[in-house]
Amino acid sequence: MSTVSGGEASTSVDSRPRAQGKKHGAVPRPRAPRLALADVPRHWFGGSRAATQIANGVNLLFPAGERFFVRSVRRYLDRVSPELAAQVKGFFGQEGRHAQAHERLFDTMRAQGFDVDSILERYERLAYGGLERMVPPKLRLAVTVALEHFTAILAEDALAGEALVFADPEVRRLLEWHAVEELEHKAVAFDVLAEVDPSYVLRVLGMVVAVLTLGGFWLFATRELLKQDGSSLRAAIREMRELRARARRAGAGRGMEPITTRVFLRGIVEYLKPGFHPMNRDHSELVAKTLERLESEGVVSPERYDAAA
Ligand SMILES: [Fe+2]
Ligand SMILES: [Fe+2]
Repeated sequence: MSTVSGGEASTSVDSRPRAQGKKHGAVPRPRAPRLALADVPRHWFGGSRAATQIANGVNLLFPAGERFFVRSVRRYLDRVSPELAAQVKGFFGQEGRHAQAHERLFDTMRAQGFDVDSILERYERLAYGGLERMVPPKLRLAVTVALEHFTAILAEDALAGEALVFADPEVRRLLEWHAVEELEHKAVAFDVLAEVDPSYVLRVLGMVVAVLTLGGFWLFATRELLKQDGSSLRAAIREMRELRARARRAGAGRGMEPITTRVFLRGIVEYLKPGFHPMNRDHSELVAKTLERLESEGVVSPERYDAAA
């Protein structure tokens, strides 16, 4: 057992393969966050065009991606144990809320003059009008599992890293609430796949498709947003290098390494370990501390937890 320090909280990693049996935690419960996203500034991430559009790039993928996760898992709902089915319903409720909240931020971007719809239209046509139909259902489930692993990494990064201190407070709250719930349901899709088909080869195939699609569409969306914002990928890479160097000099660079290593390389290495299970990494302390802060800021409250939608 080793402990990884992260921000105010910590995550601990248990590298031992988990025993069969109870793997998931409490049933995920969707919350209705109070967020005021209409006045989010154009460059909400530290005033940086590059950092904002890289984050907006992946945010644009979330709503349609989350609906894809729900479709992929729903197909197998009647094939899993009742205990896991209850988890799945909580997962559906949380993902539905995330998609709606992120779409509210799209409205703000539209008001700022971004043509998000042309990006969304091309992404959704290719990903869900084309690719999804070509991929067999079990592989779609395996892709969902791998993408949920990446969202858990992004969530841990958001909560344990230092980058979000530079974000507009309302976007920080949106991302923190989303990150908390991603960590709460991080094992659900994985456990569904384990009950439906525990094949390692299928899991790895899912990862291959996930890396190509997440990497490709994230790059596409970011490039388009940068173009609309009068910049380019090349300029953004330069800006990010300078930002990271400045953060390092100020002693605040944790969680700001390049996405290729921080998200993709780490995600792949962890995922390929035969004993991998999302619950091997304990995020309970990180989740509890963040929830406490979000409750103190009035973003979520325990009384407003809804039953799974
Ligand atoms: Fe989500
Ligand atoms: Fe998720």
